[in-house]
Amino acid sequence: MKTITIRRPDDWHLHLRDGAMLEAVLPATSAHFARAIIMPNLVPPVVTTADAKTYRARIMAALPKDHAFTPLMTLYLTESTDADDVAAGFASGEVTAVKLYPAGATTNSQSGVRDIDKVTPVLERMAEIGMPLCVHGEVTDPEIDIFDREAVFIDRVLDPLRRRIPGLRIVMEHVTTRNGVDYVKSADEGLAATITTHHLIINRNAILAGGIRPHYYCLPVAKREEHRLALRAAATSGDARFFLGTDSAPHTDPLKECACGCAGVFCAPNTLSCLAHVFEQERALDKLEAFVSINGPAFYRLPVNEETITLQRRDEPVAYPAKIETGAGPVTVFDPMFPLYWAVADA
Ligand code: DOR
Ligand code: ZN
Repeated sequence: MKTITIRRPDDWHLHLRDGAMLEAVLPATSAHFARAIIMPNLVPPVVTTADAKTYRARIMAALPKDHAFTPLMTLYLTESTDADDVAAGFASGEVTAVKLYPAGATTNSQSGVRDIDKVTPVLERMAEIGMPLCVHGEVTDPEIDIFDREAVFIDRVLDPLRRRIPGLRIVMEHVTTRNGVDYVKSADEGLAATITTHHLIINRNAILAGGIRPHYYCLPVAKREEHRLALRAAATSGDARFFLGTDSAPHTDPLKECACGCAGVFCAPNTLSCLAHVFEQERALDKLEAFVSINGPAFYRLPVNEETITLQRRDEPVAYPAKIETGAGPVTVFDPMFPLYWAVADA
C-alpha cells in the first residue's frame, strides 16, 4: 500500500458555527487538523476580543476529549471596530487575524464594511503590529456579474488598499480565479491566498449543468474550468503564497435545498482524501505537505506542527458518510464525484 507521512495539517479558513452544529462538525476537523482559523460570521458576529474569547471557550467545550486542536480566532471587521481592542487581542494571542467581509457579500455579512475608508485606522494599526487581514474578495455591486466579482474586487478594492497601506499583511481568502492567482503571484511579500478543497475539484458546471445542484453552491461561486486549472497549478506548485483554507461551511439540507439556498460546501470530513487525490493526479504528492502544513504557518508567522499524519492509498474506494446528522438537521458532505482511495491512517 502506498503511504505518505506529512506534518499535521492546519486549516486556514473554517466555519464551525455554534451550538448543536458546532458540536457535530468540529470533530471532522479536529480529527485530522492541529489548528484552524475560525471564521467569525456567527449571528451576531464575533466582533470584539471578548466575543472571541467566549466563542473559543465554546469551541474547546465541544472538542472531543481525545482530540488536540487549537482554534485560531478572528474578529469580524465592522465600521465601528476599535483598533485598541484588536491590538490587545493580537498581543495577548487571543486573536490571530481580522476578517473583512464587504457588507452583503455572503452569509451573515450584513454587519460588514460598506465604506473601506471608515476602517482605515484599524487597518493601519494592524499593519503596524503585523496582524493579518483575511479578505473576502468580492465586490457586492449588483451591477457586477457574480462570476466577475472577484476580479473586479482586486482592481477596485484590494489593489488600491495595498497601495494605500503597503505594510498590511493580507490573505485573499478562497481565491477562485486565474486573476486572483496572478495577482497574488505579482506580490513578493505580505500577500497570500487560501484555496479551498472544492474549488480544486469543481467548476461551475457542477452547480448548473444537467440540473441545479445546491450542494456545490458556495461563495465565491466556482468559476470556469480555466480558473480551476489555475488554482490547481498554484496549489500543487509548492509556492509559499498559497495554502489550504477549506472554507468548510455547513448548512443544513433544508437550507441548501430550497428556492433560495445558502452558500457553503461542507468539505471538512473528506478534505484530506480529496486533496491527496488531486495532488496525486497532478503528480505533486511531494507538494501536499507544503500546501496543507507548511506555507500557512509561514505566512502567519507561527511554528509548523511537529506531529505527523499518514495518508494511505487503499485498493478499494474509501467509504464516508454522504451526510452527517447534527442537532440542527442533516448536513451533506462534499461529493467530489469520483471515488476516493486515500484515507488518513488511524494514529
Ligand atoms: O460559501 C460560503 N459560505 N462563502 C462564504 O463566504 C461564507 C460561507 C458561510 O458562512 O456559509
Ligand atoms: Zn468562508
